[in-house]
Amino acid sequence: MNIIEKSIKATLFLVTLFTSSLVLAQEETVSAVQSTPIYAQLGLSSTMLFTIMTIFTLLLLAVVWSMASSTKNILKYKQDEAKKKNHGTKALLALFALTFSSSVMAADGGASESLIAFPDSVFWAYIVIDVVLIMIIIYLAGIVKGSISDIIVLRKMFKWKKWKVWTKSMTQAVPIEEEGSILLDHDYDGITELDNELPPWWKYGFYITILWAVGYFFYYQVFEIGNLQEAEYLQEMADGEREMAEYKAAHPEMITADNVELLTDASSIAQGRSIYDTKCASCHMEGGRGGLGPNLTDDYWLYGNDISGVFTTISEGASNGMAAWKTMMPANEIQAVASYVMQLPDITVADGGKEPQGDLK
Ligand code: HEC
Repeated sequence: MNIIEKSIKATLFLVTLFTSSLVLAQEETVSAVQSTPIYAQLGLSSTMLFTIMTIFTLLLLAVVWSMASSTKNILKYKQDEAKKKNHGTKALLALFALTFSSSVMAADGGASESLIAFPDSVFWAYIVIDVVLIMIIIYLAGIVKGSISDIIVLRKMFKWKKWKVWTKSMTQAVPIEEEGSILLDHDYDGITELDNELPPWWKYGFYITILWAVGYFFYYQVFEIGNLQEAEYLQEMADGEREMAEYKAAHPEMITADNVELLTDASSIAQGRSIYDTKCASCHMEGGRGGLGPNLTDDYWLYGNDISGVFTTISEGASNGMAAWKTMMPANEIQAVASYVMQLPDITVADGGKEPQGDLK
């Protein structure tokens, strides 16, 4: 046992003790704290913050672990001592992990809608643990830096194995001369079978898919960050409709008498009204009661009486001074003003409206 091993063990032990005591204290803390919890202040769910903190802490632990072993290599400690140390540290880490899982379970009991409750006390415990771990890392980094003469050892350690060695280890292929050693002892009409290892590259690929599935599960099912199929479909449809509407707005020429639709929404009617007041009211008068041009509020029409017909009259114009507005405004504006005209309330002769022209429709 050297000083590094001792200090790591001591710290891990302290950290473990600390978290265990926190777990015990937690039940009271949960009920005592009524103010906004930290995860809420950060705009995260408790499950999310718990996962982030746990992953971060585990990463720090992994860094400490690997730094400790490289420091050990640099200082050339004996193999058997290393074994002993690993066991001790592993046991502590297992204890550490156990403590956390039990804290999760304890916390889960009081959880309401979120998967894992994450009270502030545990958050601060994590912070303390992380700070301690970072201090260990800095300490270990100092040792590594200090032993400059051993840098060569360090280099050797981090040097990549030769490509060939690597590919061989990835395939575990048995050279053809040695195939006899993996030949299975059956022979069907001269057909024999080799007992090859599954290629490691394939196995690693498989492990990655497992990891991927875990990530996928958390992404879609636990944190619900990603949309599930139905939500995704609805989202796509909404996006499509919005794009379509934008495209139509940018290309008013797409609106023709054949496909024009009566608009009824307030903003379109308001738009139609402002167009009418500036361009049409001079002849058809305020509110469409009629003047030089006919009364647009009654049920008598010289021309078409539906949205398509009114759209056509406004676009193409008529005799006696009604201009063809299609050269003066885009089709979507004609659609708006036609829709406005269609919904005008009746102004009868008695109310100052112009007498009907055309046929009752
Ligand atoms: C210069 C005057 C004038 C202006 C401005 C004018 N109109 Fe007209 N409008 C007329 C006249 C006149 C008629 C009747 C045409 C006919 O007798 O053939 C008419 C007819 C119409 C008709 C057909 C009514 C029917 O009974 O079938 C509609 C709809 C109409 N105008 C809407 C509009 C709109 C919308 C605007 C503004 C964009 C507008 N007009 C601007 C003079 C005008």
